[in-house]
Parts: sequence; structure tokens; C-alpha cells
Amino acid sequence: MFDIKEVRANFPHTKETSYFNAASNGPLSNPGYKVQEAVYIQAKSGLMGRQVEVYDALDNIRRNGAKIFGARKKEVGFGFNTTFGINLAAFGLPLKKGDEILLSDVEFPANVYPWLELRNRGIKIKFLKSNRGCFDIEDLQKAITKKTKVLSLSFVQYFNGYKNDMTTIGKICKAHGIFFVVDAIQGAGCEPMNVHKWQVDIASAGGHKWLLGPQGTGIFFVSDNIKDRFRPPWRSWLGVDWKCDWSNLNDFDRPFDNSARQFEMGTYPAAHVMAFDWSLEFINKLGVRNIQKHNYTQMDKLIELLNSEPFYRITGSVDKKHRSSIISFTSHRGDIDYIHRLLTYCHIITAMREGSIRVSTHLYNDTNDLKRLTICLDQAAKDSCCGKCKVSPRKKLKKKK
Ligand SMILES: Cc1ncc(COP(=O)(O)O)c(C=O)c1O
Repeated sequence: MFDIKEVRANFPHTKETSYFNAASNGPLSNPGYKVQEAVYIQAKSGLMGRQVEVYDALDNIRRNGAKIFGARKKEVGFGFNTTFGINLAAFGLPLKKGDEILLSDVEFPANVYPWLELRNRGIKIKFLKSNRGCFDIEDLQKAITKKTKVLSLSFVQYFNGYKNDMTTIGKICKAHGIFFVVDAIQGAGCEPMNVHKWQVDIASAGGHKWLLGPQGTGIFFVSDNIKDRFRPPWRSWLGVDWKCDWSNLNDFDRPFDNSARQFEMGTYPAAHVMAFDWSLEFINKLGVRNIQKHNYTQMDKLIELLNSEPFYRITGSVDKKHRSSIISFTSHRGDIDYIHRLLTYCHIITAMREGSIRVSTHLYNDTNDLKRLTICLDQAAKDSCCGKCKVSPRKKLKKKK
């Protein structure tokens, strides 16, 4: 395991808030801020060219990204968000008129809109009906036809934290010759991944949540196994390795790099790349398995409270196989919005998603954060103030209205 005090020292937000919202956005770390600042200071002085250090950082991102995905480095590239890799899949896989794509009806829109565009090409999009917010493997099997060519699915569902059984789903896809595409943003960095074992063809994860990077960063994976069938929907001059030598740019005969780097696009956001490099290195140093263990230990305390308090109802899955670092719950009395505002008022940051409070715990949360959260929820259930702020938030919030 890791030293939580040392981890927290990197994250200034921990001094002021109990932040349980990694599933929305990761707070910026001190080192992440510093490396970005250094790039901007350089840029202000006009010195910023296409510096070698940014390309070194990108190389490191691909290496660390591969470790997080459980892939080979040459299969991983830098993308700007999750949408980047989903578009790569939607427009790069060999699909034709009459083909069918399967999606779950509870996907985040980033994993829906790129596929919907394919309807203009005569490709059919079929939504699989979820079962109480969860993806049902039996329904997947029933929905597969000879025309099914792609299943695109979240590794972990964004609103309830349900973790899909990737090994079984991957096996089904392969048995039917279906491309398996994964939106990995809610799992990458907090859940061990093994895209090879899962037989995933393409995966994509934005960097700004569990991967602790700035918005505008991400990693994608394109399996070596589909290299010959995949046609990239775009081409970039930086898909060629210029080795940071910009003196002969009119050489148009250079081959594309023999790796996923060839699918990256144009000039990179230098400051963001440097910060993302720091965060992926940090995550791998701690180890994703250790992070998962830490997060689950924290979550266990919340689950214990929610199970013991009849006022609350967990809306996600706490089943060992399907749990994650996200837990969602609602209240029986229907005032969950109020409880969410109460938490925010007490500087306990969570999110409201699909009628539930979503709590997402990450490596910077400690037992004190959990204590604050559980005390507040316990008190809210008893319909009184949290005891810490010495005011009645319910009264204050009513007044504000
Ligand atoms: C499952 C899932 N996919 C994708 C995204 C975001 O997509 P992008 O990184 O392209 O903005 C989110 C949340 O913002 C999400 O929860």
C-alpha cells in the first residue's frame, strides 16, 4: 500500500474539501500545476518551440498508458479525451451499410453520438435495454445477429459504478466476430485493466478523471490484432516520427510510425502533456491494484453505513464482481437533492447523477474524509445538521431559495 499522507501532500484541495468526485473531474495536483506553469512561463518568453521534453513526456505517457490498459506500448497513443478514441473506432473499423452496432441504453453520450453518425451510412444502431441500470449479458447474447459487427460498452458505468464482466463479454464478442470497443474512462487508473485478456479491439479513456490529468488529455488503445483491418479516419503530419528535427518538412515520403502514435493528431497541448505525464507516472508508481484496494477500503465504510441506515437505498452494485470506486444511492424520502446540497454545503463534494448521489473515492481520500461523509449522511438521515458546522444547513438552504 502507499503512504496516504505523502499522497495527499500533492493535492492542495485535500486541505479544504473532502472530494468524492473523481468520476467527474480529478483535482489538479501541485506537481501537475507546476509543470504546466513552467511551460506557460516558457511560452510567455517566446522560447517555446516543439521541445524535446514534450516528446519525451508523450513517449512516457504511451508507456505508462500501456501499463494502465494492460497493453503493449506500441498499441497506445495520446488522445485528447475519451471521444477521440471512440471516433477512431466508429470511423476506422471496417463497417458497411447493413451492419449493426450494439450499445447499452445507459452509455454516457460520448460513447453514443459518434456511433449515431453512422446511421447516415446505412448502419443500424441497436440499444440494449439495461436491467436496473446494469448491462445484461443474456440480453447481449439474444441481440447478436449475423449483422452485428461492434459492441461498444463502458468498462464501468458512469452513474452507478457497475463494472462490466469484461472477460465474458470479450469472449462472446470474439466468438461472433464482433469488434469490442471499450469506453474506459471510469475505470482506467483505479481498476486493473487487461485489454489483451478481455480481447478488446479499441479502448479509450479521457485523462481528467481517475487518471488525474488536465482536461484535454487521454489515452487510447488500438489492438495490434486489428492492424490490417483498421483504416484510420484521419491522418496527421505528427503520425510520422520526425525525431524532433523540423529542418526538412517537405519530405512527404516518410512512413507513418508503426504504432498507435500514427493515429494521434497534430500539435500537442504541451502544458497538458507535461501534467498528464506526471500523473500517469504517479499512478503507476503507487500501482493501480493498490489504488483499487485503498478505494475499496474507503468505500466499505460508506457501504456499511448505507446498508445499516434504512433511509438510504444503494442504486449501484456492491457485488464483489461488479463493484468499483463509484457508489450511488438515493433516499427513500425523495429528498436526495437536498442531501446533495447539504454535503456540498459542508465541503463534501459528490455529484448528482440520474436521481442518485454519486460518491467516487480516489487515492487522495483518507479515513477522515470518509468519517466526515458518513457522519453527514448519518445526520442527514436523522434530519439534523452535521454537527461540525454548528448551523442547520437545512434552514440556511431554505433561506437561500
Ligand atoms: C463513461 C464516460 N465516458 C466518457 C465521458 C467523457 O467523455 P470525454 O472524455 O470524451 O469528454 C464521461 C464523463 O465525462 C463518462 O463518464
